[in-house]
Amino acid sequence: MADKIKSIYVCTECGYESAKWYGKCPGCGEWNTLSEEVREVRKGSASKPALERRTKPSSLPLPITEITTEDEERYFTGSGELDRVLGGGIVKGSLVLLGGDPGIGKSTILMQICGHLGKILKILYISGEESRRQIKLRASRLGVNSENLYVMTETDVEIIAEHIQNEKPDLVMIDSIQTMNYKELNSSPGSVSQVRECTNILMRTSKSMDVPCIIVGHVNKDGAIAGPKVLEHIVDAVLYFEGDKQMSYRILRAVKNRYGSTNEIGVFIMGDKGLEEVENPSLMLLSGRPKNVSGTCVACPMEGSRPILAEIQGLVTNSGFGNARRMSAGFDYNRMSMLLAVLEKKCGYYFSSMDAYINVTGGLKLDEPATDLAVALALVSSLKDIIVPDDVLAFGEVGLTGEIRSVNHAAQRITEAARLGFGKCIVPYHNLRNLVLPENISIEVVGVKTIRDAVAALGSH
Ligand code: TYD
Ligand code: MG
Repeated sequence: MADKIKSIYVCTECGYESAKWYGKCPGCGEWNTLSEEVREVRKGSASKPALERRTKPSSLPLPITEITTEDEERYFTGSGELDRVLGGGIVKGSLVLLGGDPGIGKSTILMQICGHLGKILKILYISGEESRRQIKLRASRLGVNSENLYVMTETDVEIIAEHIQNEKPDLVMIDSIQTMNYKELNSSPGSVSQVRECTNILMRTSKSMDVPCIIVGHVNKDGAIAGPKVLEHIVDAVLYFEGDKQMSYRILRAVKNRYGSTNEIGVFIMGDKGLEEVENPSLMLLSGRPKNVSGTCVACPMEGSRPILAEIQGLVTNSGFGNARRMSAGFDYNRMSMLLAVLEKKCGYYFSSMDAYINVTGGLKLDEPATDLAVALALVSSLKDIIVPDDVLAFGEVGLTGEIRSVNHAAQRITEAARLGFGKCIVPYHNLRNLVLPENISIEVVGVKTIRDAVAALGSH
């Protein structure tokens, strides 16, 4: 019987499927992301896998007490930061998706993993983006030259699966999933159905052979290429590479991890010899900080389970025009407006005829309420020309009545401040109650109840 051809519309951002085209995706609300795909429905094909499944022993129900759990075997990548994000190395048989903007350093980190693991494992590196020569050039630049590293430029996913079965590598890398192609589907590489189907084939191959597989996925905002979002539920771990391409540091973040915590981040810096680990990100972010000037305060946001120190700068100037300007980089604009309103109404600092700017240095983005107090202090410091001493750090959430509310992980934040040589920490008063600090740290901890208390605690006027 002839195959039935059906046209459907799939959102390239979230994978929502619909029989009709919409300008706005009903699934995620993005505009103009639905693209047409032709899907062939094979008559009679549905019953065959069902039969197959019936005879498979692994799908039989088993009492949970009889299921054995051997320790998962992990390969250490040679990079402490990456291993931490992965939850302690690459688990055998796992599928890891490495997402990030083009040019952020995904291929570079893969090659660096090859450099380390190539000494002990057989690695198959499949690229659909670069020629062998380009890969070799990058490898030489990074000093990677291992006999165990096999490079292949191929985009047909079935051929790749066949090679994986024949070569039996210990680790597979696919760069990138958007270039892979499954011939049976009519849609072009990079479309949602191609990306999804190719990942499924790779997953089946790698799971059946217990080979870990790292898949690179580009994130593209304009929806031209299917974002790796649609793959997140297929794979075992999703890591995102973040960071400004103009800035040299990169943050690797686990968004999903079946074998570890998703709270971890790894910090790297892109240099001439590829990505280098940054073991002390706070020190890097605070380097070059101006000393003893007004309009700057150090905050301590948590990145996952890790406290990081960041400098917040505030600038308040007389407004030249009728409307006062408010701008913020790295901090939520609405939250900044709220803080300005609280400072004006509850604390008596008048900003109405003033332009106010907030900038978080290093291109960091802060979205934690615990950074409120440092932002408020940076603004007050600039307005009143009060210097926040350079060894003072502040954290706490600011409420609408000007009160400072307690935050979590207070002890960790204070410890990090002490480790970097800060002398005084301004914290929410209510955090003092249950505060248990390690014995060997020396830092003055001042609990404050309101923004006014916090300004007084600066002790510089
Ligand atoms: P790449 O890994 O090719 O990015 P992706 O695979 O995510 O698209 O990295 C590209 C950028 O990294 C490129 O702009 C050059 C830069 N780079 C360095 O600065 N140093 C290096 O040693 C390498 C290999 C790349
Ligand atoms: Mg690349």
